[in-house]
Amino acid sequence: MFTIRVQTPSGRYPVFLGRGLLKNTGLLLAGQLPAGPVLVVSDKNVAPLYARQCLQSLQAAGYKPYLKVLAGGEQVKTLETAAGLYTRALQAGLDRRAAIVALGGGVVGDLAGFVAATYLRGVPYVQVPTTLLAMVDSSVGGKVAVNHPLGKNLIGSFYQPTLVVSDVAALKTLPAREFNAGLAELVKYALIWDRKFFIDLENLQQKNIPAGNSLLHAAQPRLLKYIRRAIRIKGEIVSRDERENDLRRILNFGHTFAHALEAATDYAYYLHGEAVACGMLLAVRLAELLRVLERNAARRIRTLLRRLLKFPPPPPALKPQAVAKALFYDKKKEGAALVFILPQAAGRVLVCKAPPFNIVQQVIDEYLY
Ligand code: NAD
Ligand code: GLY
Repeated sequence: MFTIRVQTPSGRYPVFLGRGLLKNTGLLLAGQLPAGPVLVVSDKNVAPLYARQCLQSLQAAGYKPYLKVLAGGEQVKTLETAAGLYTRALQAGLDRRAAIVALGGGVVGDLAGFVAATYLRGVPYVQVPTTLLAMVDSSVGGKVAVNHPLGKNLIGSFYQPTLVVSDVAALKTLPAREFNAGLAELVKYALIWDRKFFIDLENLQQKNIPAGNSLLHAAQPRLLKYIRRAIRIKGEIVSRDERENDLRRILNFGHTFAHALEAATDYAYYLHGEAVACGMLLAVRLAELLRVLERNAARRIRTLLRRLLKFPPPPPALKPQAVAKALFYDKKKEGAALVFILPQAAGRVLVCKAPPFNIVQQVIDEYLY
């Protein structure tokens, strides 16, 4: 088992990463929190697979666990679902000594974290991520949120977990499409922060290890190493800038285009990680056209992305104007200025404010036609 420590102004916590950790959730929690009632929140796909192990281990460690299973999917990330969880917690008599455990992907993690941040003005919570995306991204860094009818993740807070338990064994039941979506967020760290990581991923292909989902089966020890590296990078970035005043913005590489693509397709076409994969390709092209990225570096990054990730084809009915319009609802916007995170080289990015819109438009047009 690896332990990665995350230190932010509002809290220091360990991320435990390994294989077969779920059955030790209770023991790992016992090192951080006194025994008491615990509300485990999960979804209908994850609970049948992993809730029993998790509940049994909590019980064995002296906790009193309650389980709430949600339907799952982005549509449950609402204030209404949060209200149902408050009711469940109140009915179970959870007081301030209680904790919440998020057992699932980013949806469960963001929602349960939001409930933990607000229930009785805040109770501790534990992230137990079961998707690759949640392991490398959403379980670390304390962004918790629910959606609003006018946009995703608009109601939320920064609220760090007490600990994170990442059991990579859970990935073996993850559907291939979800795995690919998580891989996009993993590759992101190499592109924004770590040239050596980028080169390792390039070499991985040169050794002809199959890309995408096969990486999961063919390269388990390597995958664990990559997840560890991604968590370390995320931990380092959020430790330096917990509330996204500056540096943390680089974690949004690919996300300006991604959010616009998701919004313009009513969140029904792409998985988030798939949109991020496309968004990274578009950001590479924008950087190239703006001449902040050399052509050769752009080619290398594109080659890596295309070899490692699967990209859904552009939605046939999607109009460039719809994507362009959606760009202006981006949370990162500063006044009227769009903000893009653009690659400068493999492993290094910059923040670009208000690039000429005709070039942004060209990038969207090239993608859709
Ligand atoms: P998700 O939680 O919807 O999980 C994807 C699907 O996989 C679901 O159907 C789930 O039931 C299923 N699943 C999960 N683990 C499984 C397993 N081990 N075996 C089989 N099935 C499994 O989606 P996600 O991609 O994990 O997370 C997306 C969410 O994360 C979005 O709401 C996004 O806004 C949020 N997010 C948050 C942050 C953050 O920093 N807080 C960062 C990135 C994304
Ligand atoms: N997923 C982006 C962040 O945590 O800041």
